[in-house]
Amino acid sequence: MLSVHLTARADVTSALEQAFRHLLVRAYPQFTDFWAGASYWGSEPEYHLWLAEEGRPVAQLGFGRRVVGVDGQDIQIAGAGAVCVDPDWQGRGVGKRLLHELHRVLSNDLPTDFGFLQCREAVTGFYERGGFVRVPQPVRFFDPDEQRWGLDAGPTMVLAVLKGSEAWPGGGEVDLRGLPW
Ligand SMILES: CC(C)(COP(=O)(O)OP(=O)(O)OC[C@H]1O[C@@H](n2cnc3c(N)ncnc32)[C@H](O)[C@@H]1OP(=O)(O)O)[C@@H](O)C(=O)NCCC(=O)NCCS
Repeated sequence: MLSVHLTARADVTSALEQAFRHLLVRAYPQFTDFWAGASYWGSEPEYHLWLAEEGRPVAQLGFGRRVVGVDGQDIQIAGAGAVCVDPDWQGRGVGKRLLHELHRVLSNDLPTDFGFLQCREAVTGFYERGGFVRVPQPVRFFDPDEQRWGLDAGPTMVLAVLKGSEAWPGGGEVDLRGLPW
């Protein structure tokens, strides 16, 4: 049975950080060079949410809360990134459980209006199965690689938590006002 853990970034030990990196390398072998040296890209997460088998992480994501601009309105989100499930555990509902735990944490422990993430086209269906809906707005963010502001029109997914999806503005842009996740 998998255990569920919510760890503030500040409390991540070096052993746990190494375990996250190891998991990310296994899940994203095409980006081994990057994940061998980091457990997140862009915005440093506020928390890691992870599932473990006998203490060893087999699925994780990082997230942080922020007020962003959407079509000129202030909207509270928890932006998530580095979502992964160990290849040995994929296809068994573990990713869905991780998204369910994220919804639970944002409902109860760290009350937040919406979950938010950007992803590849190939995995939009996974997030939809986990309760996310795709929104049409392009996303303005500070690109940590290019060190400049950019606009991303790729898939953007929103999870209604404390507010319903009808409260997400319908037009304009999502302005992350900083680094992405
Ligand atoms: C994407 C990933 C997190 C999915 O985790 P998983 O544990 O394999 O997914 P689950 O078994 O929990 O699947 C949950 C549901 O999503 C569906 N699903 C899984 N992957 C999917 C995909 N790529 N496209 C569409 N649906 C998908 C499953 O069929 C299942 O549907 P169900 O609710 O009808 O049973 C995992 O495959 C992974 O870590 N991949 C490599 C890293 C990656 O691409 N991360 C996402 C980056 S944005």
